[in-house]
Amino acid sequence: MTETLAPDDAGIARAARLLAQGELVAFPTETVYGLGGDARSDRAVAGIYAAKGRPTFNPLIVHLPDLAAAEALAMVGPNARALAQAFWPGPLTLVLPLRDGAGLSPLVTAGLPTVAIRIPAHPLARRLLQAFGGPVAAPSANPSGRVSPTRAAHVLDGLAGRIAAVLDGGPCAVGLESTIVAADPLPTLLRPGGVPVEAMEALLGQPFATGGDAHAPSAPGQLASHYAPRAGVRLNATAAEPGEVLVGFGPVKGALTLSDSADLTEAAARLFDLLRQADRLAGPHGRIAFAPVPESGLGLAINDRLRRAAAPRP
Ligand code: TXA
Ligand code: MG
Repeated sequence: MTETLAPDDAGIARAARLLAQGELVAFPTETVYGLGGDARSDRAVAGIYAAKGRPTFNPLIVHLPDLAAAEALAMVGPNARALAQAFWPGPLTLVLPLRDGAGLSPLVTAGLPTVAIRIPAHPLARRLLQAFGGPVAAPSANPSGRVSPTRAAHVLDGLAGRIAAVLDGGPCAVGLESTIVAADPLPTLLRPGGVPVEAMEALLGQPFATGGDAHAPSAPGQLASHYAPRAGVRLNATAAEPGEVLVGFGPVKGALTLSDSADLTEAAARLFDLLRQADRLAGPHGRIAFAPVPESGLGLAINDRLRRAAAPRP
């Protein structure tokens, strides 16, 4: 049985106690729900991979309360520091050189000399990290390859019975995973996400290189097929074909809509829930079609997720 914990002092204390016992607890962040486990515990981290059915070559993000905690585990270079000061806490993950003796389970980093670190902004995530008092490894709380969860009910859809608890914090405000960056010496975008790359380029005054292609992924989780609903997905649709559920955006009106007013923030927040709704509406033989979304700002991350949702399945 997976416990559902209320977003109050008792729920947070219970979640922290379960983490301390090496159990797995899903918790809300501003991006998506994470599947948390003690990042120092081989047993807890192995449990995360097992619960998700995730390949163990795909390393996990370590969640911490602040930059000082990050500096205890990893080396923070000049570009990384500037990005951290501007965008932490928030939807940014920095890939940093791991310090010797950091004390993380080697399973977290899948043997890489680097570690991905994020300081979440969600108040419940922050309270949980404080109460637990250690590093929390947390991938998105969904079975590997499927749509990421932005509500507690989405977590239970995929993982009920496989994890100890979910802390219910309601819907996630950003709705897309964090932006992943390797910052030093040259800033490289490994995964587009909740912080638009344009904002980081403006801060550092230089363009970002792009990494993480599907064949030689530098963020190894960036496989071509991901975020896959059951139904097939067609992109850049301006009208529904027979048997399709059209998800509109702006001027393209569908049975469902990412944003009537073409607002990318609203579209990001709704994307994963709409993928699930469209999947239900499409039924066993239907397909899902998405209206075009502009390739700028949060649109870069939205289109990245949509392309992976539409990619041929393994
Ligand atoms: O918003 C988010 O980032 C959410 C919440 C829960 O924090 N987490 C998340 O985790 O999206 P996950 O496991 O679904 O995606 C983590 C990504 C994977 O693509 C993984 O390959 C990459 O981070 N990653 C982890 N450690 C890395 C490293 N040392 N070098 C490069 N990529 C790394
Ligand atoms: Mg994920």
